[in-house]
Amino acid sequence: MPVAPAVRAMCPTNEITPEDARILLSRAQADPVWWVREILQAQPWGKQAEVLEAVRDHPRVAVRSCHGAGKSFVAGQVILWFTYSFAPSIVVSTAPTWRQVEKLVWKEVRASYRRSRVPLGGNLLPKRPELQIVQDQWYAAGLSTNDPDRFQGFHEENILVVVDEAAGVPEDIFEAIEGVLTSGHARLLLLGNPTAIGGTFYNAFRTPGWKTIAISAFDTPNFAAFGITEEDIAQGAWEEKITGSLPNPKLVTPEWVADKYVKWGPTSPAYQARVKGEFPAEAEDTLIPLAWIEAAMARWEDAPTGEPVEIGVDVARFGGDKTVIVTRRGRKVMPLKVYAKQDTMETAGWAIEERRASGASRIKVDVIGLGAGVVDRLEEQGYPVSGINVAESPVDKERFADLRSELWWNLRELLDPNPKVNPEPVALPPDDELLADLSGIKYKITSGGQIQVERKEDMKKRLGRSPDRADAVVLAFAPVKDSGFIFV
Ligand SMILES: Nc1ncnc2c1ncn2[C@@H]1O[C@H](COP(=O)(O)OP(=O)(O)O)[C@@H](O)[C@H]1O
Ligand SMILES: [Mg+2]
Repeated sequence: MPVAPAVRAMCPTNEITPEDARILLSRAQADPVWWVREILQAQPWGKQAEVLEAVRDHPRVAVRSCHGAGKSFVAGQVILWFTYSFAPSIVVSTAPTWRQVEKLVWKEVRASYRRSRVPLGGNLLPKRPELQIVQDQWYAAGLSTNDPDRFQGFHEENILVVVDEAAGVPEDIFEAIEGVLTSGHARLLLLGNPTAIGGTFYNAFRTPGWKTIAISAFDTPNFAAFGITEEDIAQGAWEEKITGSLPNPKLVTPEWVADKYVKWGPTSPAYQARVKGEFPAEAEDTLIPLAWIEAAMARWEDAPTGEPVEIGVDVARFGGDKTVIVTRRGRKVMPLKVYAKQDTMETAGWAIEERRASGASRIKVDVIGLGAGVVDRLEEQGYPVSGINVAESPVDKERFADLRSELWWNLRELLDPNPKVNPEPVALPPDDELLADLSGIKYKITSGGQIQVERKEDMKKRLGRSPDRADAVVLAFAPVKDSGFIFV
């Protein structure tokens, strides 16, 4: 084995005696925060330093955190520190989608590698997330979760596995990872937004043997520097506390949290997971688990478009509501178009424009309230339009209380990420308000044993906003025959 490249990096100008090398390497192994500061020239904040030290000290570490706390960043630092401090070593990193592997953690690996005080050595491949020191023996690599078999056959004394966005990684991958962690010095680091109830990531916080770390947005530098608390956000007192520039504007900001506090509400699953870094207290009455929605948004960028192409239109009913128009292309939902309340003619005009642009075969409009006029107008002009009244009776009267419940349940089933029941789950465009709408809906079972999804008015009362975006998506997937009538 060559002298650990990191040793060269730590001592670039002088001849390195074996004794120097030994001292430097043991310092690197003993103090990852020092190594990251000195060699990578990065400034980990408190919890990031805690993560680095936890990986040094504990075989299994799980970090649940808010959005934008620097999880992927610290994952990149951990990967470089371990690779260069233990000779030889194998480091494997993964995440729910290939894009996440390449664009999140490995973006940080590349940036830190480039920023390092002196060249780190080794070969960082330009096209693949892979850093080779000694081919097939000493390296770090990003792997996709499509193929659990790829996680087998790593044998090395020093092994580190890093899983980013761990709540979205399938269980068979965790099973494969277990088989890798058999060596003397094996480390597993899971990081993620705590969205999914159940599974390895969730259980890590409830099982002995794990070192766990929790990060709320209120712990992060842009809050801590000014002592901004959730109280301040609730009372609108945060702005006056910001007396200087933010320590790191790329990390989660008070402005973002204040926006989510209003739009999502502090009791919503989205706020609990993304802001507080807490597993949402998803009760049994939550219709669509937050984790399913997150997964649908994570797969969007790479999801293929298909047939049919259909449009859903949710027409604003009251002041403050929005009119939302959305096209879906097969199982892929295109970005939502949201309009402040308008009149019938204007809404019909926007729907026609959307159809012209997308070539959709059908436009489906919620007819309650102003929607009826929009349907008339579109019909008059010969467009293939279906007016859908969600208050009407469902097709499957035994199972559902009304059509609204049936159509929402239909979307729920299309979002189910279990490949055994739903081989091609729907992909949703990343949209924070859509995420909050969908994850906020509740349902119950009536005394007659039917599924009843919360009425729009009830959700509005409960959360102070109307789930217009989600309703438009529900309509876009409402099954309609060529004749224009609903079937399910
Ligand atoms: N200690 C740090 N120093 C500088 N930039 C950082 C630091 N931690 C995170 N960042 C940057 O802040 C942004 C958000 O961090 P990221 O790791 O993507 O957060 P998360 O994975 O928790 O959502 C990224 O652009 C990242 O490069
Ligand atoms: Mg991340």
